[in-house]
Amino acid sequence: MALLDEPATTPTALVGEAPPSPAGPISEEELAGLAAPPEVPLPGALQVLRFSQRQIEFVFGGRRRLGDVFRFHGPVPGRPVLTAHPDHVRSIFTAKVEHVPTLTSESPLRPVVGPNSVLTANGPRHLRQRKLLLPPFHGEAIAQYREMITEAAEREIARWPVGRPLALAPRMQAITLDVIMAGIFGIEGKPSPGTPEFGLRQATRQLVQASTWPVYGLVELMNLGNDEPIGFTKAGLRILDGFTFSVIKRRRAAADLEERRDILSLLLQARTEEGEPLTDQELRDELLTLVLAGHETTANQLAWTWERLTRTPAAHERLLDAVREGDDAAASAEVDAVLHESMRSRPVIPVIGRRVQAPWQLGRYGVPAGTPISMSILLVHHREDVYPDPFSFRPERWHDAKPGTYSWLPFGGGTRRCLGAALAMAEMRVVLRAMAQRLDLEAVDPEPERAVHRNVTMIPRHGARVVVRRRL
Ligand code: HEM
Repeated sequence: MALLDEPATTPTALVGEAPPSPAGPISEEELAGLAAPPEVPLPGALQVLRFSQRQIEFVFGGRRRLGDVFRFHGPVPGRPVLTAHPDHVRSIFTAKVEHVPTLTSESPLRPVVGPNSVLTANGPRHLRQRKLLLPPFHGEAIAQYREMITEAAEREIARWPVGRPLALAPRMQAITLDVIMAGIFGIEGKPSPGTPEFGLRQATRQLVQASTWPVYGLVELMNLGNDEPIGFTKAGLRILDGFTFSVIKRRRAAADLEERRDILSLLLQARTEEGEPLTDQELRDELLTLVLAGHETTANQLAWTWERLTRTPAAHERLLDAVREGDDAAASAEVDAVLHESMRSRPVIPVIGRRVQAPWQLGRYGVPAGTPISMSILLVHHREDVYPDPFSFRPERWHDAKPGTYSWLPFGGGTRRCLGAALAMAEMRVVLRAMAQRLDLEAVDPEPERAVHRNVTMIPRHGARVVVRRRL
């Protein structure tokens, strides 16, 4: 009897569901019957600054005071409305493409990668570029990069000192740069000084490094709304472009072009439905898009993963045991659980947006056509009803649960879902596993690292500082 009276001791599910909330395109009459979303009561300029520099405090504060949906002043024209509800996300990811153009077409990346790249274009142009780029990013095509990624990871890990503090983010960037150079440009190992390949590698590294300087935030705001880059961005790009065009020219003339599997060589051979090849400018725009979209994101997501693991002993130990015990299936499952939880709790891109082209319902609120809607990945990922104990890092949530399409969105979704998701997952799996196999890591400071915002990403303030205690 006493047993029956005891509260249930089985843990409740660690992944749940949000209560339903109606959302989607509506008529003007329906819009008239709905309330407008509540507004953040702060001066506009201050809101833009807070959203760009302190997004976590800003969005969590907004939700606490105003609920799942609120209007604010953001870095895009028009007053964006932010939502934290998976049903609202679903209404946007499943909408007709012409109803939901992406806000990246208005982002500071536009003058850098041009208005016609897969990241910035909308409508038929976007579909055309996406179709051309998809084949080399397919899961099967990515499988062939595994070996190359393993080599890049092992090479890098072997260099790290034992017993001295080390920031992981730049180390992870060294690996992701190698992967990009090999997978995208087909440049393996260290190119010889003086060649365009060498220059391209150096210039890419410098541009990405410079983009993490604090002043770059200002440069980024200055570039907003322009079609052409200005100032520092323009100077840096001119150098990078020179090398990129030289590499394209040399590859076009390469005798082994048809046998090559790197993305540049595949794109050089790709044809549109009208039988047209990509121009050099189009190739440059897409290559730069892939470099910028794929390099810092993957590196910082890995850095966050270790920032969390080294502060969560139970999860850390479980991963090391799984990886070192030699059962491949168990190791893969634990690696995936850790990555899913890392991307849930520290999504390196914390928000994505669309400008709706019809009046839209978001729960009990309505917004007119033309409103930018920001889907806060960060807030969706921290809903108590979907993820009980949301602020804890608990990879075990994912032992019996699959990530939900509209409640786990680190790669966005719909027709704009991250093109490099399979490549990013492959890279992160290989690197995480190699590190867990070889290294005992410890956080330099037991306090969690705060997040800072660089460009569109949210990264660990000190780059996830750790000490290698032991190398196996
Ligand atoms: C952990 C690593 C990564 C994360 C978290 C990430 C996240 C994202 C997100 C949130 C979007 C916007 C999706 C949307 O608006 O619905 C996106 C788009 C994109 N990503 Fe990634 N990404 C990662 C790695 C990569 C890699 C490795 C590449 C390629 C080398 C890449 C290429 C792209 C491209 C081309 C787009 C634009 C797709 C489109 O608009 O059609 N990403 N990514």
